[in-house]
Amino acid sequence: MKIGIPKESLDGETRVATTPDVAKKLVTGGLTVLMEKGAGEGSHFPDSAYQEVGVELTDRTGAFACDIVTKVRKPTLDEAAMINEGAILIGYAETCDEDPVIAALHARNITFLAMERIPRISRAQSMDALSSQSNIAGYRAVIEAAQHFGRFVPLMMTSAGSAKPARVVILGAGVAGLQAIATARRLGGDVYAYDVRPETQEQIASLGAKVIELDIGEGGAGEGGYARELSDEGKAKQQALLADELAKAHIIVSTALIPCKPAPVLVTEDVVKRMREGSVIIDLAAATGGNCPLTEKDKVVNKHGVILVGHTNYPAMMPSDASAFYAKNVANLIEIMLDKSGDTIALKDLDEDEITQAAQLKPTA
Ligand SMILES: NC(=O)c1ccc[n+]([C@@H]2O[C@H](COP(=O)([O-])OP(=O)(O)OC[C@H]3O[C@@H](n4cnc5c(N)ncnc54)[C@H](O)[C@@H]3O)[C@@H](O)[C@H]2O)c1
Repeated sequence: MKIGIPKESLDGETRVATTPDVAKKLVTGGLTVLMEKGAGEGSHFPDSAYQEVGVELTDRTGAFACDIVTKVRKPTLDEAAMINEGAILIGYAETCDEDPVIAALHARNITFLAMERIPRISRAQSMDALSSQSNIAGYRAVIEAAQHFGRFVPLMMTSAGSAKPARVVILGAGVAGLQAIATARRLGGDVYAYDVRPETQEQIASLGAKVIELDIGEGGAGEGGYARELSDEGKAKQQALLADELAKAHIIVSTALIPCKPAPVLVTEDVVKRMREGSVIIDLAAATGGNCPLTEKDKVVNKHGVILVGHTNYPAMMPSDASAFYAKNVANLIEIMLDKSGDTIALKDLDEDEITQAAQLKPTA
Protein backbone atom coordinates (compact mmCIF):
# COMPACT_ATOMS: atom_id res chain seq x y z
CA MET A 1 0.00 0.00 0.00
CA LYS A 2 1.37 3.39 -1.05
CA ILE A 3 1.31 6.47 1.19
CA GLY A 4 1.93 9.81 -0.57
CA ILE A 5 3.39 13.00 0.94
CA PRO A 6 3.02 15.97 -1.43
CA LYS A 7 4.70 19.30 -0.65
CA GLU A 8 2.22 21.82 0.79
CA SER A 9 1.44 24.52 -1.78
CA LEU A 10 -0.44 27.10 0.30
CA ASP A 11 1.45 30.36 0.83
CA GLY A 12 3.20 30.37 4.21
CA GLU A 13 2.45 26.72 4.97
CA THR A 14 5.77 25.32 6.18
CA ARG A 15 4.49 22.08 7.70
CA VAL A 16 4.69 18.62 6.16
CA ALA A 17 2.32 15.72 6.83
CA THR A 18 5.03 13.14 7.62
CA THR A 19 8.43 13.54 9.24
CA PRO A 20 11.40 11.15 8.84
CA ASP A 21 10.77 9.59 12.30
CA VAL A 22 7.15 8.85 11.49
CA ALA A 23 7.96 7.75 7.93
CA LYS A 24 10.39 5.22 9.39
CA LYS A 25 7.56 3.64 11.40
CA LEU A 26 5.30 3.53 8.34
CA VAL A 27 8.03 1.88 6.23
CA THR A 28 8.87 -0.61 9.02
CA GLY A 29 5.16 -1.38 9.20
CA GLY A 30 5.23 -2.59 5.59
CA LEU A 31 3.97 0.53 3.78
CA THR A 32 5.59 2.13 0.75
CA VAL A 33 6.09 5.85 1.39
CA LEU A 34 6.48 8.21 -1.58
CA MET A 35 7.37 11.84 -0.93
CA GLU A 36 7.53 14.79 -3.28
CA LYS A 37 11.10 16.07 -3.35
CA GLY A 38 11.61 18.96 -0.94
CA ALA A 39 8.30 18.42 0.91
CA GLY A 40 10.04 18.52 4.31
CA GLU A 41 12.29 21.51 3.63
CA GLY A 42 9.96 24.10 5.19
CA SER A 43 10.06 22.10 8.44
CA HIS A 44 13.83 21.61 8.28
CA PHE A 45 13.66 17.92 7.33
CA PRO A 46 15.91 17.39 4.29
CA ASP A 47 15.18 14.82 1.59
CA SER A 48 18.21 12.81 2.71
CA ALA A 49 16.66 12.24 6.17
CA TYR A 50 13.63 10.64 4.51
CA GLN A 51 15.74 8.58 2.11
CA GLU A 52 17.74 7.19 5.03
CA VAL A 53 14.59 5.64 6.50
CA GLY A 54 13.42 4.13 3.22
CA VAL A 55 11.16 6.83 1.76
CA GLU A 56 11.14 7.00 -2.05
CA LEU A 57 11.48 10.50 -3.47
CA THR A 58 9.17 11.33 -6.34
CA ASP A 59 7.66 14.26 -8.24
CA ARG A 60 4.38 15.99 -7.47
CA THR A 61 2.31 13.63 -9.61
CA GLY A 62 3.85 10.58 -7.96
CA ALA A 63 3.12 11.85 -4.44
CA PHE A 64 -0.56 12.39 -5.30
CA ALA A 65 -0.99 9.06 -7.17
CA CYS A 66 -1.04 6.91 -4.02
CA ASP A 67 -3.59 4.78 -2.14
CA ILE A 68 -3.51 7.17 0.83
CA VAL A 69 -2.46 10.81 0.32
CA THR A 70 -1.48 12.66 3.50
CA LYS A 71 -1.61 16.44 3.56
CA VAL A 72 -1.81 19.26 6.06
CA ARG A 73 -3.93 21.79 4.16
CA LYS A 74 -6.97 21.17 2.01
CA PRO A 75 -5.90 20.47 -1.58
CA THR A 76 -6.53 22.97 -4.36
CA LEU A 77 -8.84 21.92 -7.18
CA ASP A 78 -5.79 21.09 -9.31
CA GLU A 79 -4.32 18.96 -6.55
CA ALA A 80 -7.65 17.20 -5.98
CA ALA A 81 -7.63 16.25 -9.68
CA MET A 82 -4.23 14.56 -9.20
CA ILE A 83 -5.54 12.13 -6.55
CA ASN A 84 -6.48 8.67 -7.85
CA GLU A 85 -10.16 7.84 -8.16
CA GLY A 86 -11.22 5.80 -5.10
CA ALA A 87 -8.14 6.79 -3.06
CA ILE A 88 -8.09 8.18 0.49
CA LEU A 89 -7.06 11.71 1.43
CA ILE A 90 -6.11 12.68 4.99
CA GLY A 91 -5.77 16.36 5.93
CA TYR A 92 -7.64 19.40 7.17
CA ALA A 93 -10.92 20.10 5.36
CA GLU A 94 -10.99 23.68 6.69
CA THR A 95 -14.72 24.01 6.16
CA CYS A 96 -17.93 22.85 7.76
CA ASP A 97 -19.80 22.77 4.45
CA GLU A 98 -19.35 21.07 1.11
CA ASP A 99 -17.25 23.36 -1.11
CA PRO A 100 -16.02 22.92 -4.73
CA VAL A 101 -12.90 20.98 -3.70
CA ILE A 102 -14.81 18.59 -1.49
CA ALA A 103 -17.49 18.17 -4.17
CA ALA A 104 -14.75 17.38 -6.72
CA LEU A 105 -13.29 14.74 -4.39
CA HIS A 106 -16.68 13.17 -3.80
CA ALA A 107 -17.42 13.15 -7.53
CA ARG A 108 -14.35 10.92 -7.98
CA ASN A 109 -15.16 8.69 -5.04
CA ILE A 110 -12.18 9.89 -2.99
CA THR A 111 -12.68 9.40 0.74
CA PHE A 112 -11.62 12.52 2.66
CA LEU A 113 -10.76 11.96 6.32
CA ALA A 114 -10.76 15.43 7.86
CA MET A 115 -8.39 15.80 10.81
CA GLU A 116 -10.63 18.38 12.49
CA ARG A 117 -13.46 15.83 12.56
CA ILE A 118 -11.57 13.31 14.67
CA PRO A 119 -13.85 13.01 17.69
CA ARG A 120 -12.44 14.33 20.97
CA ILE A 121 -12.76 10.94 22.74
CA SER A 122 -10.08 9.17 24.80
CA ARG A 123 -9.25 6.53 22.17
CA ALA A 124 -8.71 9.22 19.53
CA GLN A 125 -6.47 11.46 21.62
CA SER A 126 -3.32 10.34 19.80
CA MET A 127 -4.96 11.37 16.50
CA ASP A 128 -6.32 14.72 17.69
CA ALA A 129 -4.55 17.20 15.42
CA LEU A 130 -6.81 20.07 16.45
CA SER A 131 -5.43 19.70 19.96
CA SER A 132 -1.80 19.12 18.98
CA GLN A 133 -1.75 22.17 16.73
CA SER A 134 -3.79 24.41 19.07
CA ASN A 135 -1.38 23.57 21.85
CA ILE A 136 1.43 24.93 19.68
CA ALA A 137 -0.67 27.97 18.74
CA GLY A 138 -1.35 28.77 22.41
CA TYR A 139 2.36 28.66 23.23
CA ARG A 140 3.47 30.60 20.15
CA ALA A 141 0.76 33.24 20.67
CA VAL A 142 2.25 34.21 24.04
CA ILE A 143 5.77 34.35 22.58
CA GLU A 144 4.37 36.61 19.86
CA ALA A 145 2.71 38.81 22.48
CA ALA A 146 5.97 39.14 24.40
CA GLN A 147 7.75 40.12 21.21
CA HIS A 148 5.32 42.94 20.40
CA PHE A 149 5.04 44.17 23.98
CA GLY A 150 7.47 46.98 24.71
CA ARG A 151 7.83 46.01 28.35
CA PHE A 152 8.84 43.03 30.48
CA VAL A 153 6.35 40.24 31.05
CA PRO A 154 7.84 39.14 34.44
CA LEU A 155 8.53 41.20 37.53
CA MET A 156 11.97 42.77 37.03
CA MET A 157 14.03 44.35 39.80
CA THR A 158 17.22 46.02 38.69
CA SER A 159 19.54 48.73 39.98
CA ALA A 160 17.95 51.03 37.39
CA GLY A 161 14.47 50.47 38.76
CA SER A 162 11.83 47.79 38.75
CA ALA A 163 9.02 46.72 36.43
CA LYS A 164 5.76 45.15 37.53
CA PRO A 165 4.69 41.90 35.88
CA ALA A 166 2.46 42.33 32.83
CA ARG A 167 -1.22 41.71 33.36
CA VAL A 168 -2.13 38.99 30.86
CA VAL A 169 -5.75 37.97 30.16
CA ILE A 170 -6.50 34.76 28.30
CA LEU A 171 -9.99 34.49 26.81
CA GLY A 172 -11.23 30.95 26.15
CA ALA A 173 -9.61 28.18 28.16
CA GLY A 174 -9.74 25.29 25.69
CA VAL A 175 -6.60 23.68 24.32
CA ALA A 176 -4.92 26.85 22.97
CA GLY A 177 -6.07 28.92 25.95
CA LEU A 178 -4.77 26.53 28.62
CA GLN A 179 -1.39 26.34 26.89
CA ALA A 180 -1.35 30.15 26.62
CA ILE A 181 -2.04 30.38 30.37
CA ALA A 182 0.79 27.94 31.15
CA THR A 183 3.21 29.78 28.87
CA ALA A 184 2.32 33.24 30.19
CA ARG A 185 2.79 31.93 33.74
CA ARG A 186 6.19 30.48 32.83
CA LEU A 187 7.16 33.90 31.48
CA GLY A 188 6.20 35.41 34.82
CA GLY A 189 3.05 37.29 33.82
CA ASP A 190 0.19 38.09 36.19
CA VAL A 191 -2.32 35.84 34.44
CA TYR A 192 -6.13 36.01 34.46
CA ALA A 193 -8.42 33.81 32.36
CA TYR A 194 -12.06 33.55 31.42
CA ASP A 195 -14.13 30.90 29.69
CA VAL A 196 -17.88 30.61 29.33
CA ARG A 197 -17.83 26.91 30.31
CA PRO A 198 -17.84 26.67 34.13
CA GLU A 199 -15.83 23.41 34.18
CA THR A 200 -12.74 25.30 32.93
CA GLN A 201 -12.43 27.27 36.18
CA GLU A 202 -10.70 24.40 37.95
CA GLN A 203 -8.29 23.94 35.02
CA ILE A 204 -7.47 27.65 34.95
CA ALA A 205 -6.81 27.67 38.69
CA SER A 206 -4.69 24.50 38.51
CA LEU A 207 -2.33 26.31 36.14
CA GLY A 208 -1.90 29.10 38.68
CA ALA A 209 -3.97 31.76 36.89
CA LYS A 210 -6.78 33.81 38.43
CA VAL A 211 -10.28 32.97 37.24
CA ILE A 212 -12.43 35.80 35.91
CA GLU A 213 -15.98 34.92 36.97
CA LEU A 214 -18.96 36.58 35.30
CA ASP A 215 -22.65 36.12 35.93
CA ILE A 216 -24.12 36.38 32.45
CA GLY A 217 -27.39 34.77 33.43
CA GLU A 218 -27.14 31.74 31.12
CA GLY A 219 -24.98 28.60 30.78
CA GLY A 220 -22.30 28.52 28.10
CA ALA A 221 -21.54 24.79 27.96
CA GLY A 222 -22.52 23.05 24.74
CA GLU A 223 -21.97 19.52 23.44
CA GLY A 224 -18.74 17.51 23.25
CA GLY A 225 -16.73 19.83 25.51
CA TYR A 226 -17.41 22.86 23.30
CA ALA A 227 -19.21 26.08 24.18
CA ARG A 228 -22.66 26.95 22.81
CA GLU A 229 -23.57 30.25 21.21
CA LEU A 230 -25.03 32.69 23.75
CA SER A 231 -28.29 34.60 23.22
CA ASP A 232 -27.94 38.21 21.99
CA GLU A 233 -28.70 39.33 25.53
CA GLY A 234 -26.06 36.97 26.94
CA LYS A 235 -23.45 38.22 24.45
CA ALA A 236 -24.11 41.86 25.34
CA LYS A 237 -23.95 41.10 29.06
CA GLN A 238 -20.72 39.15 28.63
CA GLN A 239 -19.07 42.00 26.71
CA ALA A 240 -20.17 44.56 29.30
CA LEU A 241 -19.02 42.50 32.29
CA LEU A 242 -15.68 41.66 30.69
CA ALA A 243 -14.92 45.26 29.71
CA ASP A 244 -13.34 46.43 32.99
CA GLU A 245 -11.13 43.33 33.28
CA LEU A 246 -9.95 43.66 29.68
CA ALA A 247 -9.31 47.40 29.83
CA LYS A 248 -6.75 46.75 32.62
CA ALA A 249 -4.82 44.13 30.59
CA HIS A 250 -1.40 44.73 29.04
CA ILE A 251 -1.73 41.60 26.94
CA ILE A 252 -4.88 39.77 25.81
CA VAL A 253 -4.67 36.38 24.11
CA SER A 254 -8.12 35.49 22.85
CA THR A 255 -8.96 31.95 21.76
CA ALA A 256 -12.76 31.75 22.08
CA LEU A 257 -14.25 29.42 19.52
CA ILE A 258 -17.55 27.71 18.79
CA PRO A 259 -17.11 25.14 16.01
CA CYS A 260 -18.59 26.16 12.64
CA LYS A 261 -19.74 29.57 13.94
CA PRO A 262 -18.20 33.02 13.61
CA ALA A 263 -15.89 33.81 16.54
CA PRO A 264 -17.73 35.41 19.48
CA VAL A 265 -16.88 39.10 19.96
CA LEU A 266 -15.38 39.53 23.43
CA VAL A 267 -13.08 42.54 23.01
CA THR A 268 -15.09 45.49 21.69
CA GLU A 269 -13.67 48.65 20.12
CA ASP A 270 -14.60 50.55 23.31
CA VAL A 271 -12.39 48.19 25.32
CA VAL A 272 -9.50 48.66 22.89
CA LYS A 273 -9.86 52.45 23.30
CA ARG A 274 -9.66 52.04 27.07
CA MET A 275 -6.52 49.85 27.03
CA ARG A 276 -3.10 51.41 27.70
CA GLU A 277 -0.93 52.52 24.75
CA GLY A 278 1.39 49.71 23.70
CA SER A 279 -0.86 46.91 24.98
CA VAL A 280 -1.07 43.83 22.77
CA ILE A 281 -4.01 41.71 21.62
CA ILE A 282 -3.23 38.36 20.05
CA ASP A 283 -6.44 37.24 18.38
CA LEU A 284 -6.17 33.53 17.68
CA ALA A 285 -9.67 33.52 16.26
CA ALA A 286 -8.70 35.87 13.40
CA ALA A 287 -9.51 33.23 10.77
CA THR A 288 -13.16 33.09 11.82
CA GLY A 289 -13.74 36.83 12.21
CA GLY A 290 -11.77 37.48 15.38
CA ASN A 291 -12.73 37.84 19.04
CA CYS A 292 -12.05 41.54 18.47
CA PRO A 293 -13.73 43.25 15.50
CA LEU A 294 -10.63 45.41 14.93
CA THR A 295 -8.40 42.41 14.22
CA GLU A 296 -7.23 42.14 10.62
CA LYS A 297 -6.60 38.63 9.35
CA ASP A 298 -2.89 37.85 8.84
CA LYS A 299 -1.86 41.40 9.72
CA VAL A 300 -0.35 43.24 12.67
CA VAL A 301 -2.13 46.59 13.06
CA ASN A 302 -2.14 49.43 15.55
CA LYS A 303 -5.61 50.60 16.57
CA HIS A 304 -6.07 53.29 19.23
CA GLY A 305 -2.45 52.69 20.32
CA VAL A 306 -3.01 48.95 20.83
CA ILE A 307 -1.16 46.36 18.74
CA LEU A 308 -3.54 43.78 17.28
CA VAL A 309 -2.02 40.58 15.88
CA GLY A 310 -4.16 38.51 13.52
CA HIS A 311 -1.86 35.70 12.37
CA THR A 312 -3.86 32.63 11.35
CA ASN A 313 -1.13 30.01 11.21
CA TYR A 314 0.95 29.90 14.39
CA PRO A 315 1.78 26.18 13.97
CA ALA A 316 3.55 27.06 10.69
CA MET A 317 5.83 29.36 12.72
CA MET A 318 7.04 26.29 14.63
CA PRO A 319 7.06 23.86 11.71
CA SER A 320 9.43 21.21 13.06
CA ASP A 321 7.43 20.42 16.20
CA ALA A 322 4.09 21.14 14.54
CA SER A 323 4.89 18.68 11.73
CA ALA A 324 6.22 16.11 14.20
CA PHE A 325 2.98 16.19 16.22
CA TYR A 326 0.75 16.30 13.15
CA ALA A 327 2.62 13.43 11.49
CA LYS A 328 2.12 11.28 14.60
CA ASN A 329 -1.59 12.13 14.63
CA VAL A 330 -1.89 11.09 10.97
CA ALA A 331 0.16 7.91 11.40
CA ASN A 332 -1.96 6.85 14.39
CA LEU A 333 -5.06 7.36 12.26
CA ILE A 334 -3.56 5.30 9.40
CA GLU A 335 -2.77 2.54 11.90
CA ILE A 336 -6.43 2.01 12.83
CA MET A 337 -7.43 2.05 9.14
CA LEU A 338 -5.32 -0.95 8.16
CA ASP A 339 -5.81 -4.68 8.53
CA LYS A 340 -2.38 -6.28 8.76
CA SER A 341 -3.57 -9.78 9.68
CA GLY A 342 -3.22 -11.30 6.18
CA ASP A 343 -0.33 -11.62 3.72
CA THR A 344 -0.98 -8.16 2.34
CA ILE A 345 -2.03 -4.98 4.10
CA ALA A 346 -5.70 -4.24 3.45
CA LEU A 347 -7.92 -1.30 4.17
CA LYS A 348 -10.62 -1.84 6.82
CA ASP A 349 -14.22 -0.71 6.37
CA LEU A 350 -13.90 2.91 7.53
CA ASP A 351 -17.55 2.99 8.61
CA GLU A 352 -16.94 0.28 11.20
CA ASP A 353 -14.76 2.35 13.49
CA GLU A 354 -16.35 5.35 15.21
CA ILE A 355 -13.21 7.43 14.63
CA THR A 356 -12.83 6.88 10.88
CA GLN A 357 -16.59 7.03 10.54
CA ALA A 358 -16.77 10.45 12.19
CA ALA A 359 -13.75 11.84 10.32
CA GLN A 360 -15.16 11.09 6.86
CA LEU A 361 -16.69 13.94 4.93
CA LYS A 362 -19.78 12.37 3.39
CA PRO A 363 -21.36 13.87 0.28
CA THR A 364 -24.39 16.01 1.08
CA ALA A 365 -27.55 14.41 -0.33
N1 LIG B 1 -4.21 31.39 14.61
C1 LIG B 1 -3.73 30.15 14.62
O1 LIG B 1 -2.66 29.84 14.12
C2 LIG B 1 -4.52 29.08 15.31
C3 LIG B 1 -4.03 27.76 15.48
C4 LIG B 1 -4.80 26.84 16.21
C5 LIG B 1 -6.03 27.22 16.71
N2 LIG B 1 -6.47 28.49 16.46
C6 LIG B 1 -7.74 29.01 16.93
O2 LIG B 1 -7.64 29.16 18.33
C7 LIG B 1 -8.94 29.07 18.88
C8 LIG B 1 -8.96 28.05 20.00
O3 LIG B 1 -8.71 26.74 19.52
P1 LIG B 1 -8.82 25.53 20.53
O4 LIG B 1 -8.39 24.30 19.82
O5 LIG B 1 -8.20 25.89 21.81
O6 LIG B 1 -10.39 25.44 20.70
P2 LIG B 1 -11.18 24.87 21.95
O7 LIG B 1 -12.52 24.50 21.45
O8 LIG B 1 -10.37 23.83 22.65
O9 LIG B 1 -11.26 26.16 22.89
C9 LIG B 1 -12.06 27.25 22.63
C10 LIG B 1 -12.58 27.75 23.95
O10 LIG B 1 -13.33 28.94 23.74
C11 LIG B 1 -14.36 28.93 24.70
N3 LIG B 1 -15.42 29.87 24.32
C12 LIG B 1 -16.32 29.77 23.32
N4 LIG B 1 -17.15 30.82 23.31
C13 LIG B 1 -16.76 31.62 24.34
C14 LIG B 1 -17.23 32.86 24.85
N5 LIG B 1 -18.26 33.48 24.30
N6 LIG B 1 -16.61 33.37 25.91
C15 LIG B 1 -15.55 32.73 26.48
N7 LIG B 1 -15.07 31.56 26.04
C16 LIG B 1 -15.66 31.00 24.98
C17 LIG B 1 -14.82 27.49 24.74
O11 LIG B 1 -15.55 27.20 25.88
C18 LIG B 1 -13.51 26.76 24.66
O12 LIG B 1 -13.00 26.44 25.92
C19 LIG B 1 -9.86 28.74 17.71
O13 LIG B 1 -10.43 29.93 17.21
C20 LIG B 1 -8.93 28.12 16.70
O14 LIG B 1 -9.43 28.21 15.38
C21 LIG B 1 -5.74 29.42 15.79
